[in-house]
Amino acid sequence: MAIAFIHPVPLLSRLLVFIVCFAIAGCSAPKNHGDEVYKANCAGCHGAQLQGGAASALTKVVMKHGSDRSSILKTIREGIPSTEMMKWDSTLSNNDIEAVTDYILQVRADPQTVKVEDKPLQVETKLYKLKIERIISSGLNGPWGIEFVDSTHVLITGKTGELYWMVNGKLDTQKISGLPKIYGLDLYGGLLDLALDPDYAHNGWIYLAFSSNPQNTIDSTAPGMTKIVRGKLRGHQWTEEEVLFQVNDSLLIRGGTRWGCRFLFDKQGYLYFSIGDMNRADDSQILTRPSGKIYRIQQ
Ligand code: HEC
Repeated sequence: MAIAFIHPVPLLSRLLVFIVCFAIAGCSAPKNHGDEVYKANCAGCHGAQLQGGAASALTKVVMKHGSDRSSILKTIREGIPSTEMMKWDSTLSNNDIEAVTDYILQVRADPQTVKVEDKPLQVETKLYKLKIERIISSGLNGPWGIEFVDSTHVLITGKTGELYWMVNGKLDTQKISGLPKIYGLDLYGGLLDLALDPDYAHNGWIYLAFSSNPQNTIDSTAPGMTKIVRGKLRGHQWTEEEVLFQVNDSLLIRGGTRWGCRFLFDKQGYLYFSIGDMNRADDSQILTRPSGKIYRIQQ
């Protein structure tokens, strides 16, 4: 897992970057930029070296949806329905799709093509310069949400249903018990985000979002929906759980993917959370269906 430290970029260096870009005619993308397109859009699921991860390896000798150039182009342009592989033709330009296809073919022919960068990474955003250091590199199962409780204690959710303490930069291996049962792991669900109450120091409330089904099974064919609870931690025990959001059974859905939940408290104390499109893009526009929405809970 990686933590980012933020250093403001001095205005002067921002100006210099701008001027240099201007001088080389608009910083146009390099001619063979397939690796950049891949890194920015695909590596998160298919792995930095195309070795697979959340999604299949793109280095397999025989690929399920075809290994020749035109099949790969088609897969990228049109996506694979009912999977995480979305269609990219409305997000990437034709030039980018061709470039990333050629990059995949190039790596398939010669895996040495992938440049493995050694961390720490430096990332520059519009406003900040980020330095990324590795703190924990094993022991976490699919970290999703992170909250800094105080200067030495951090809470991290793991998608497979674990909540971890990190103390002084080290993972505490003692499990937290009494957590809600989650499901939908193979559907990109599980234990999702967490948030601390703005008044956590006094009331101790911790908010959790997770994929839930009323039968409380881990069977991913059972209809379910995101559920939001809050509770408190007494050391390694989850207690005093209260349900804040749970839909009626008639609104549960079967086999929805992309649960995508994030929490945010605003300054007025409203808690916002999202529910992903769950592979039902059209439902996002229908206010009576739960998926594809941002919700607000008043304290
Ligand atoms: C959110 C995750 C995700 C992202 C991001 C993603 N993919 Fe995929 N991709 C998948 C999944 C899942 C599959 C396998 C679908 C299936 O089960 O058939 C897949 C399949 C593929 C395949 C077919 C593999 C085969 O075995 O036939 C190709 C090629 C591919 N992706 C290329 C890309 C490219 C290029 C990008 C970036 C532009 C990208 N993917 C981004 C999830 C993703």
